[in-house]
Amino acid sequence: MNPATPETTTEIPAARLRCIQCGSLADHAGQDFRCPSCGDLYEIFYPGWQRPHGPEASRLDAEALRQLWRDRKSSLAAADTSGVWRFRELLPVLKADPITLREGNTPLYDLPGCAQAAGVEALQAKHQGMNPTASFKDTGMTTAASFARQEGFRWVACASTGNTSASMAAYAARGGMRSLVLIPEGQISWGKLSQSLDYGAVTCQLRTDFDGCVKVLSELVRRKPVYLLNSVNPYRLEGQKTAAIELLEQLNWQPPDHIIVPGGNLGNSSALGKALLEMRDLGLISRLPKLSVIQAEGANPFYRSIREHAGAKLVPMQADTLATAIRIGNPASWKKALRVVQATEGAVEQVSEGEIALAKAEIGCDGVGCEPASAVTLAGLKKLVKQGFVKPSETVVLILTGHVLKDPEFTLKFHRGDLFTGAARAKDATALAAHQRAPVALDATVDAVIQTLEQVDSER
Ligand code: F0G
Repeated sequence: MNPATPETTTEIPAARLRCIQCGSLADHAGQDFRCPSCGDLYEIFYPGWQRPHGPEASRLDAEALRQLWRDRKSSLAAADTSGVWRFRELLPVLKADPITLREGNTPLYDLPGCAQAAGVEALQAKHQGMNPTASFKDTGMTTAASFARQEGFRWVACASTGNTSASMAAYAARGGMRSLVLIPEGQISWGKLSQSLDYGAVTCQLRTDFDGCVKVLSELVRRKPVYLLNSVNPYRLEGQKTAAIELLEQLNWQPPDHIIVPGGNLGNSSALGKALLEMRDLGLISRLPKLSVIQAEGANPFYRSIREHAGAKLVPMQADTLATAIRIGNPASWKKALRVVQATEGAVEQVSEGEIALAKAEIGCDGVGCEPASAVTLAGLKKLVKQGFVKPSETVVLILTGHVLKDPEFTLKFHRGDLFTGAARAKDATALAAHQRAPVALDATVDAVIQTLEQVDSER
């Protein structure tokens, strides 16, 4: 071996915490995961990666990493069968075994019908709803919950619009910890609520919205030894970033032109963007996809921050949308998201309730399906194509964040024509009628079924 070449090309470097605002460094965060100097958020960074010269220089060799991750696909070890821990060279070092439900490993689907609806030649979706608890949250929960256990916490907690809580409750249960869920009363889908009950969480429905739940939790973690599992916890984002690494692996390391993601609390866009920048820095990809974030019109503080204040500040708002997962008016990670949108030259758009419902039905018609919050991606893509930001020949990947079964009430109301009622929503209701397929109640006879079949056939 050439003595100038470091012996190990995939050795794991130590991770540190760095404040995104004032840059101060730490090896340990307080329970609120905020910088004690300026109060802003921490991010995890890896000093070893940033030494272009010296003995550490080429420790993380891109081709060696790709090969190592490929080889692990044939391993039966728990950490290797996790689609998150398979990429552990780019994660903070965990000393014990991870808490894993074999998260990640999610499919990349072609969406031919949606491509046509959006006006692009080809369209793909990475379906993070195919995770163990049916949302993208599992990829971040396996990392953060594992670090909570390593630090000896007995209780973990989160405020949630439903998916974080479902995921946290599952991983806490698997890891032998207790979990405390704070959710806005009456504002999350019962599918998600039922998950956290079944996984054994102490579930508190607070008479407030998501942002109100966050406030209560922030105070709680200062007073009780409870580990905070919201996405202000940077260990969550490290796990979530592996979705982008896995995506690029699925694309044989050829970056798409665009990646489009829903924006709520803005942790996921921050995580995916961080992965893109790190992959570029490590030589795993040669150019950056544009990362665009889409919000619902009724929960659009990030969109407004960019349009009205050029990203200089974010004005919290009272959020309202039927896509309850992203009903968030004061997103914690907006500065991180802004940074990655700017670094990748992405866009930020907003879409209406009617556009979300239509896009969700179209994703369903491609045999894939997703929850309402995920459908903002397709609705946003349509707008970005119309604006010329996305060219018809460019390659686009939508990140679908939650499974179609997460919010069956929305889907049923949509198909029964009950989603948009009242004069104010009449326009939405008419536009969607062609996509509705309400169930039909019939007498139990073959003739009745045949008649229905023939009638539908004649309409096509
Ligand atoms: N899509 C789904 C299905 C979600 O559950 C969320 C967030 C998002 C998109 C937005 O991601 O917050 O990282 O920008 N759900 C959180 C929760 C807030 O509590 O489950 P984000």
